[in-house]
Amino acid sequence: MIAELDATFLAEVSGLIAERMGLHFPEERWPDLARDLKTASQELGFEYPDACVSWLRTRELTAQHIETLASHLTVGETYFFRDPESFEVLQREILPPLIARRIDTGRTLRLWSAGCCTGEEAYSLAISCARSLPDLPTWNVSVLATDINPKSLAKAEAGVYSPWSFRGTPDPFRGGFFSPAPGKNLRIGAVVKNLVHFRYLNLAEDLYPSLHNHTNAMDVIFCRNVLMYFTPDHQRRVVAALYRCLVDGGYLLVNPAEASHSLFPMFTMENIGGVILFRKTPRVTGVESRPGNVPTNPALPVPAFSTAPAPAAPRLIPHLMPPPSPIDPVPPVLLAPPITPLSGEDFLRVAGVYANQGRLEEALALCRDAIAVNSTNPAAYFLCAMICQELGRLEEAVATLGKVLYLDQDFILAHHALGSLYKRLRKPRESKRHLAIALELLLARGRDEIVPESDGVTCGRLVESVQAMAGP
Ligand SMILES: C[S@@+](CC[C@H](N)C(=O)[O-])C[C@H]1O[C@@H](n2cnc3c(N)ncnc32)[C@H](O)[C@@H]1O
Repeated sequence: MIAELDATFLAEVSGLIAERMGLHFPEERWPDLARDLKTASQELGFEYPDACVSWLRTRELTAQHIETLASHLTVGETYFFRDPESFEVLQREILPPLIARRIDTGRTLRLWSAGCCTGEEAYSLAISCARSLPDLPTWNVSVLATDINPKSLAKAEAGVYSPWSFRGTPDPFRGGFFSPAPGKNLRIGAVVKNLVHFRYLNLAEDLYPSLHNHTNAMDVIFCRNVLMYFTPDHQRRVVAALYRCLVDGGYLLVNPAEASHSLFPMFTMENIGGVILFRKTPRVTGVESRPGNVPTNPALPVPAFSTAPAPAAPRLIPHLMPPPSPIDPVPPVLLAPPITPLSGEDFLRVAGVYANQGRLEEALALCRDAIAVNSTNPAAYFLCAMICQELGRLEEAVATLGKVLYLDQDFILAHHALGSLYKRLRKPRESKRHLAIALELLLARGRDEIVPESDGVTCGRLVESVQAMAGP
């Protein structure tokens, strides 16, 4: 019982929770911890918190347990257009130049609400995009919305909100983004809903950026009122990973109270009308990820072109060989003669890096080059499919995943991706079938084994993702 939770016990629990979940409970928050632990213990089936903690000590915590604990230990407080100044800056200062740059180059916008809770922030981002794009149907706008709390995600997915969620929105009906729902509630309209994709992601544990969870190449990330839950060490790691998820010139917005400058040394800080923005400064001022620029992000894998002597005329790929420019000379890695013929693996490595940077069409072209070199490599088709999905070409992604399975019917990630794609395409039978196969293949492997062709995702973690997707 709470009265019996002594300081030694709470110190131990807060240490365990920090280690397993990245959540920070300093001494002044131990009363909260004691209260939350009691309710979490009950949901986990323990009569008393100390029994729950003994079990926590066994370290057999699954993602499901972490989710339950997180839903009690974190506060799910949010509403539409919370901190309206941030959304004004988004719509006035961030989106217009971004849209101008992308209008002739892909028409893609990628935003992420990291720690989205019940979805109000993610839908507010999507509404901001819809308001900024009168020709919305001609754009590929994607708002990724992730959280550690599956109950919040389920509510977000449902898209029905009580008036309390609109306490910062004087006129929610403006723009026709909502329709009335029973009991004074409002339902988010299909146009905006289709832009938002909700997914489970533990910011403290999961791997990002990654094409597999769509956390790559973000233009804007809202991660507000989330960092405050993490230990300083986890805060630094999360911010560094979010930095890598952004394209050059991309923005990260956090709650001003979380914006301690020392956490964001890699960003350029901008203050627009009192709103603090953290910008991933482009390498060359005013130039956004131009075709031909070699990947610059030091945290990303640098494509390892072989520089061993070439036998004959090297195979040079036009879209990898831009003309030299005084402001952005061709990087030595691409000039260094002689260059051996590029292998399919070379193409795929660079394609992955480009995809992470949001250079999706170039990445796709490189995948096709990889396939031209070796048409029987399922990994090349798989990357191709992931990129098609990001480009909004869902049917093409499905067809390409079919080719992956033709070459390797046990390609776990292809089944997993098809499960997710068919769900989006509202084909539940096909979705369930592929998720069941993915599950069977995963269960035949060890929990800690790395899933082939993944960025280091363990089989155990993917099992939980499949189970969450498959539903009860
Ligand atoms: C206060 S809400 C913030 C919602 C929204 N971003 C906003 O500012 O209105 C904090 C959210 O962070 C989520 N969260 C806490 N720890 C997390 C973690 N490790 N990974 C992902 N989400 C987490 C919680 O589940 C909760 O939904």
